[in-house]
Amino acid sequence: MAALSQKKSCQQRMDEWKEFIWNPRTHEFMGRTGSSWALILLFYVVFYGFLTALFSLTMWVMLQTIDDYVPTYQDRLANPGLMIRPKSDSLDIVFSSSDNATWKTYVNKLDDFLPAYDDMNQTSKNENCPSGTYFEEKDKGNVQNHPKRACQFKRSFLGRCSGLEDATYGYSEGKPCVLIKMNRVINFKPRPVPATNPFITIDCTGKKDEDIQHLGDLQYFPNNGSNFGTIDLMYFPYYGYKVQANYTQPLVAVQFLNVTQNVDIYVECKVLAQNIKNDDDRDKFAGRVAFKLKVNS
Ligand SMILES: *[C@@H]1O[C@H](CO)[C@@H](O)[C@H](O)[C@H]1NC(C)=O
Ligand SMILES: *[C@@H]1O[C@H](CO)[C@@H](O)[C@H](O)[C@H]1NC(C)=O
Ligand SMILES: *[C@@H]1O[C@H](CO)[C@@H](O)[C@H](O)[C@H]1NC(C)=O
Ligand SMILES: *[C@@H]1O[C@H](CO)[C@@H](O)[C@H](O)[C@H]1NC(C)=O
Ligand SMILES: *[C@@H]1O[C@H](CO)[C@@H](O)[C@H](O)[C@H]1NC(C)=O
Repeated sequence: MAALSQKKSCQQRMDEWKEFIWNPRTHEFMGRTGSSWALILLFYVVFYGFLTALFSLTMWVMLQTIDDYVPTYQDRLANPGLMIRPKSDSLDIVFSSSDNATWKTYVNKLDDFLPAYDDMNQTSKNENCPSGTYFEEKDKGNVQNHPKRACQFKRSFLGRCSGLEDATYGYSEGKPCVLIKMNRVINFKPRPVPATNPFITIDCTGKKDEDIQHLGDLQYFPNNGSNFGTIDLMYFPYYGYKVQANYTQPLVAVQFLNVTQNVDIYVECKVLAQNIKNDDDRDKFAGRVAFKLKVNS
């Protein structure tokens, strides 16, 4: 019975609602007086104003520390990776020298990649740097030495792998050339092994003993008379795309001269330098690159 008597009529409820929205006796709007609402409004204005100011300040401080020309955070890239050209998704180079359709894409990829290295392009864009030392272009205090020059790497340095003497880069003879490039790392100066060498070296070999046997003789370009591929110190440091727009990465070409046909050969190329890791189990591209080579008869 008590429950029933407490039931309100529809009219009663409407009136209560109306009074809640606007109570003429107490001059309350939704339960608060005008000054109470004004205080709340003021509170939020101050609160959000403060948040906005804090955000802007943080942003401003951060932007002050950013140099237009050098990325602030680049620790992820501290160890340069290696990559090959021609590059396919699976890093396979499989072809039959007698069937030009099987190697045409490799040759086309190299043809597309190399024009930037054409000797004429390099002499017109880049500097003939002294060999064997870092090519440093320092800023003087706040006076930035921009733009920075880059050193010539001419296509002809790649010898038989340049595509100039042999337009098929050896593929038509079953002696394929593979180009190896080291990723750019801003301000990085690789230290040679031994320290007095004027270059760092690239070394390719079979992964397992049988791969080594199947791989046969190989030749590197450029090699500076050594048994390795060489990257002259003058190509370092790299200062970044914006400052050093004409920079072209140095390359090492390796030509496989006498591979055993019809078998998969797992090749691994490593860069040798004191300050480059090339045996990180978790990163198989740090300082090295592996690919499969198969030359069918
Ligand atoms: C590939 O070889 C065929 C026959 O030997 C020839 O007709 C064709 O022009 C060659 N294609 C290329 C791109 O060399
Ligand atoms: C210079 O390089 C560009 C591409 O970077 C290429 O299109 C052009 O053919 C090259 N110049 C010469 C003279 O080969
Ligand atoms: C970059 O190359 C262009 C020609 O392509 C040349 O005019 C310019 O001076 C070069 N810049 C630097 C900094 O060497
Ligand atoms: C490597 O060889 C090239 C051509 O033979 C030569 O111009 C260059 O000075 C050599 N570089 C070093 C570091 O010995
Ligand atoms: C090529 O390799 C085979 C063994 O795989 C060897 O018998 C042959 O002498 C090599 N040829 C040359 C020119 O080195």
